[in-house]
Amino acid sequence: MLSERERLQYLAAIGIEVWSQRNMPVFDEGEIPDGQTLVPSDRDAPADWQALRAKVQSCRNCELHETRSQTVFGAGNRNADWMIVGEAPGADEDRQGEPFVGAAGKMLDEILAAAGLDRNSVYIANILKCHPPGNRNPHQTEADSCREYLNQQIAMVQPKVILAVGAVAAHQLLQSDQPVGKLRGQTHTSQPAGVNVIVTYHPAYLLRSPVHKRDVWQDVCLARSVIGGLQD
Ligand code: URA
Repeated sequence: MLSERERLQYLAAIGIEVWSQRNMPVFDEGEIPDGQTLVPSDRDAPADWQALRAKVQSCRNCELHETRSQTVFGAGNRNADWMIVGEAPGADEDRQGEPFVGAAGKMLDEILAAAGLDRNSVYIANILKCHPPGNRNPHQTEADSCREYLNQQIAMVQPKVILAVGAVAAHQLLQSDQPVGKLRGQTHTSQPAGVNVIVTYHPAYLLRSPVHKRDVWQDVCLARSVIGGLQD
């Protein structure tokens, strides 16, 4: 988590004008509002969340159950306005059971922090709940058999916006095969949940191509304006 000073330095480093976020709920461990949770604990979750988590944990819908160490359900604030949807757990996530805990996760933390958000103010999930061996791209059959879980998570969180990070998330949520560069910069609607979707580059891509940080910042600002518009 970046300090405010680091956040401003980050934005300055990528040449971006600074704004500050208002009206974001901020809470520390020990003073969590009812019905919300700190990452990674979901143990006090309502029954529907617990049932879904149990279903995912015992899932054998595709062959990935044979090679996973554990399922990676999702984490964060179950009442969040923002939902971040990634591709699939990597090796680090497979070991730890939490989404975006590896190098890409640190980049995601930076993106969130720059927007005045953190893992306690968003809900994070992936298209796949199991790690594909060798980090290969998910097969369509795997995405299809996992989709009911993400749909249920979206239905229960009811986010105001989904930030789809990377091509796999964008393609699965939008039933599109357009490149991320073409899908960015507009508000889409997820299929079939009907939630606003903003597409941006995957944090792992930013590690290789930091020049696109500015684009991601613009996408985050767009998502923020979508949420702002809904609150008017
Ligand atoms: N990349 C993803 O898309 N999701 C993760 O959880 C980790 C890396």
